[in-house]
Amino acid sequence: MTDDAAARFDALCARALGDPEGFWGEAARDLVWTRPWDRVLDARRPPFYRWFSGGRINICYNALDRHVAAGRGGQTALVYDSPVTGRIERYTYRDLTERVARLAGAIRHLGVGPGDRVVIYMPMVPEAAMAMLACARLGAVHSVVFGGFAANELATRIDDAKPKLILSASCGIEGAKRIPYKPLLDAAIERAAAKPAHCLVFQRPELGCDLVPGRDLDWAEAVAAAEPVPCADTAATDPLYILYTSGTTGVPKGVVRDHGGYAVALHWSMGNIFGLAPGETMFTASDVGWVVGHSYIVYGPLIRGCISVLYEGKPIGTPDAGAFWRVVREHGVHVLFTAPTAFRAIRREDPDGAFIRKAPLGAFRALFLAGERCDPPTLAWAETQLGLPVIDHWWQTETGWPIAANCLGIARLPVKPGSPTKAVPGWDVRVLDEAGQPAKPGEIGNLAVRLPLPPGALPTLWQADDRYVASYLTAFPGYYQTGDAGFIDEDGYIFVMTRTDDIINVAAHRLSTGAMEEVVAAHPDVAECAVIGVADELKGQVPVGFVVLKAGVARPDDAIEREVGQLVRDRIGPIAGFKRTLVVNRLPKTRSGKILRQAMRGLADRKPVTVPPTIDDPAALDEIADALKEAGF
Ligand code: COA
Ligand code: AMP
Repeated sequence: MTDDAAARFDALCARALGDPEGFWGEAARDLVWTRPWDRVLDARRPPFYRWFSGGRINICYNALDRHVAAGRGGQTALVYDSPVTGRIERYTYRDLTERVARLAGAIRHLGVGPGDRVVIYMPMVPEAAMAMLACARLGAVHSVVFGGFAANELATRIDDAKPKLILSASCGIEGAKRIPYKPLLDAAIERAAAKPAHCLVFQRPELGCDLVPGRDLDWAEAVAAAEPVPCADTAATDPLYILYTSGTTGVPKGVVRDHGGYAVALHWSMGNIFGLAPGETMFTASDVGWVVGHSYIVYGPLIRGCISVLYEGKPIGTPDAGAFWRVVREHGVHVLFTAPTAFRAIRREDPDGAFIRKAPLGAFRALFLAGERCDPPTLAWAETQLGLPVIDHWWQTETGWPIAANCLGIARLPVKPGSPTKAVPGWDVRVLDEAGQPAKPGEIGNLAVRLPLPPGALPTLWQADDRYVASYLTAFPGYYQTGDAGFIDEDGYIFVMTRTDDIINVAAHRLSTGAMEEVVAAHPDVAECAVIGVADELKGQVPVGFVVLKAGVARPDDAIEREVGQLVRDRIGPIAGFKRTLVVNRLPKTRSGKILRQAMRGLADRKPVTVPPTIDDPAALDEIADALKEAGF
């Protein structure tokens, strides 16, 4: 890195914060607007800031039609690579635009218009991306629910979003397993109070399903009968999607994203953070159900005119730890983005990197990791094996794009292991103590972002302005509370260490232990319980439950463990990875009855534990230590 490059990066940061209207107004000119904005930053109703108010733009137009109109319709837009079905399909921008326009016609035919909600519950097939883009085309608001969630979680989201229509598929494929989606969908609709009028079901040849007469329609038939429709003239501030994420209770938060700010931020990030030019290839190994999939499988690469690889497989086992490298070589991938957990899995099966060295990786030039803390050994292994930049970057469902990253497209800064580098231009990140005072460099505190947040970040929660303010903007007035704790060093490098709430990251899937406690407490034999996240070599963290049984219950511990695990699987989903429940006689508490979860976590992770002076019965903590030891932790 030259001093010039570092200076350019600092200058961009200073400009983005000092003159946000100039900075983002300029970035917005790269896109096609049907009406220019009246205000770049609309600060008339703080803390509800809006970007590009008065402007009109459709994100689907910018992701698809714009490239066709510019003469690039023949370029590949999407590659579907599915080792679990043996299929590889390529869609050009023209082809994808036509398919999305026709699907939008089918959706409109079912009575869906601008502002109506559509839930998408689909596996990693190209039709899932088409479904998102088709909703955007119509100005309808999509809400994708990850396939690994159980019917109950789907029902909660249906009740909050109140969709007119649900788009789904007959099955998902997880490695060698076929997961029938339809029974989950039917159970969720049965449970939900807000019934959708219709479901459009994509039948997969691997496992079909029955349709409910009058309610369900066959995807292929509906699309074949539909007329293509053009893009709706949406306002920049119109909602594009709702993406539910774990809150501290069983009720998830509906993060809202708009058309204009999101399109501008993603387009800017594709060039400046990921360093990708139009025509280059991005492979984001995630799922369309997560924010990473929304931003960097679907919208970001397409807005930039890149080729996006949509991969239906795992990092290992489909068929082996060389799966990602096969995709990289076969599709000429320039940038791969995945979660550290995927790399830990690859490293475990291919410690010497034999699959990496099997053949040259072609145009591959950088690996981006996010979704959970990137542990330095995983970073070091990836760097050594690849001999290429490995970029840890930090963001959240709420922010929509990275808060901190080594911005390859601007200047490659030196790496400090354990840090996602510095705040990206547009993000004013601070560390605050509990009283909201700035912490000194190196001092751990709450990571907060000074308002207004840049374009692309959440403007609010779906129909819950109060919850938005209470959850994010109240603890530190004038700041967005990330819920992460960490520090910023003398050089401005950010270190994200842990969450300040009950959120845990299991294989980079964000889950709430509070929500799991609600489920565990519902077991008929459980009197009280606590769920904590325990460090795990592969998944980063896994949940572990501690239960006290009701008086008089004398059942084997393993039966309780099995039933509690099944309950969490049925109510939250298999991705919770809830396998361990320890039966104890009591839970350690303070004298006022607060469960000492932090001390329990410390014991499980074999870290020094400070016993608070307010502990009610120190022997209860000793009992937890014994239970953990006996269970092999
Ligand atoms: N639909 C249905 N079930 C799903 C699912 C989906 N989309 N995704 C996961 N599941 C199920 C799995 O089949 C598994 O079920 P099981 O308990 O019956 O075996 C369970 O949920 C847990 O899955 P997973 O977390 O994937 O664990 P795993 O042990 O099967 O695989 C890894 C371990 C590390 C290979 C895997 O977690 C992985 O690929 N992680 C990367 C995650 C990632 O990319 N996250 C994106 C965020 S950026
Ligand atoms: P999600 O909303 O699912 O993307 O999860 C966001 C949370 O994941 C953040 O609040 C962090 O706790 C964690 N996270 C994401 N990326 C990183 C990273 N690079 N380093 C540390 N933690 C991360």
